[in-house]
Amino acid sequence: MDKFVVYGGKPLSGKVRISGAKNAVLPIMAASLLAPGSYRIRNAPHLRDTFTMLEVLRATGVTGEIEDNVLELDTTNCNNPFAPYELVKQMRASFYVLGPLLARFGEARVSLPGGCAWGPRPVDLHIKGMRLLGAEIELDKGYVVAKAKKLKGTLINLDITSVGATGNVMMAAVLADGETVIENAAREPEIVQLARFLKKMGAEIEGEGTGTIRIRGVGSLSPVDVDVIPDRIEAATFLLAGAMIGEGVIVEGLDVDHLTLFLSKLREAGVNFEVKSKSEVVISRPERLRAVNITTAPYPGFPTDMQAQWMAAMSIADGSSVILEEVYKDRFTHVPELIRLGADIVLDNNVAIVRGVKELQGAQVMSTDIRASASLILAGLVARGRTDIYRIYHIERGYERIDEKLRAIGAEIIREEAEVI
Ligand code: UD1
Repeated sequence: MDKFVVYGGKPLSGKVRISGAKNAVLPIMAASLLAPGSYRIRNAPHLRDTFTMLEVLRATGVTGEIEDNVLELDTTNCNNPFAPYELVKQMRASFYVLGPLLARFGEARVSLPGGCAWGPRPVDLHIKGMRLLGAEIELDKGYVVAKAKKLKGTLINLDITSVGATGNVMMAAVLADGETVIENAAREPEIVQLARFLKKMGAEIEGEGTGTIRIRGVGSLSPVDVDVIPDRIEAATFLLAGAMIGEGVIVEGLDVDHLTLFLSKLREAGVNFEVKSKSEVVISRPERLRAVNITTAPYPGFPTDMQAQWMAAMSIADGSSVILEEVYKDRFTHVPELIRLGADIVLDNNVAIVRGVKELQGAQVMSTDIRASASLILAGLVARGRTDIYRIYHIERGYERIDEKLRAIGAEIIREEAEVI
């Protein structure tokens, strides 16, 4: 197992290019199950999660390869509407195949995801949506078994705005009889991209990007090609690296329209940046970051996927900030690790109070999930001395070649084999 060794304090400068969005490519891959044929998905990120989804698709009979960020899928011989526990437990987003498999085959057997490092993360809303569309659902030995000769359009009000449930229900409803309305739908750019991809395949969808999505079922869909949108979380992470220790970091290939709130928070924190175009931002650190509060919320709110990294930045800010986690209330496994690096953080339920310190000091730390790992890397980049970050396999799930990208802009980050830890 590898670890990252980071020597902190090296200013960053130069260009970094943002990859395709993990949270966009995964539902698009699942949606390819809806219509037999060949798909070309460009700008697909080389991530462990992309490969896990490819394995999930292969288990259903799909063939596919990824080369140079182009993912080719052939779903013609897909004939097994089944997603095994071994894969779904590795990545919850595998559950996305439930809707498309049910819509195409009238049945599906998909493992329940189980727990995760930060809380139970239920899928009850996905199941509620499928039931309302007319599916019979049973639980059998840890698997969701769904059956429906033909799904029927209906009104589905999601009690909580859920990205996954919105995408799953949308994929199930595109081939249903009649109209489906999803209320309290997620508005994330990745859901917008999924809707546009489905529309390109022939689906009839309106209202993506708003809280109400209308889907009129069609008889069949056809395979198409697509370019995956840039990863706004990877972009925000590199912007934050620039804000913490940048001296002219050029982040390119991003979409600033997906980062409006995040950029305004950077501005509040006193960060100097220039939006050169919709896809390029140049960023440098200020004398000292100012403390800025955040509350996570569904898009267009502050992303929960940036909470851990924001906390790393606030650890060295001038003043105290309050970080309120409203999406995943237990998502704080990075807190004890940041404290090992010298951060001053007090946690009370889903509220973290961060008192900025002048300096962090390198230490051995453990990453516990994708975004927590990114937060520890950011902290390591500014800490005095050496930081060893263990269990970096988490980061490989969601950041493409993060160490290479950071080295190219001047960071001293080395991948080494870890002593057992
Ligand atoms: C997606 C993202 C993940 C991000 C999260 C929130 C993907 C592949 N992953 O995850 O990176 O952190 O959105 O932005 O896109 N909930 C229920 N019942 C359900 C489903 C969700 O109660 O059936 C709750 C969750 O516990 C959570 C909230 O709804 O409190 C939002 O979760 P959701 O948007 O579904 O997250 P994911 O789609 O799993």
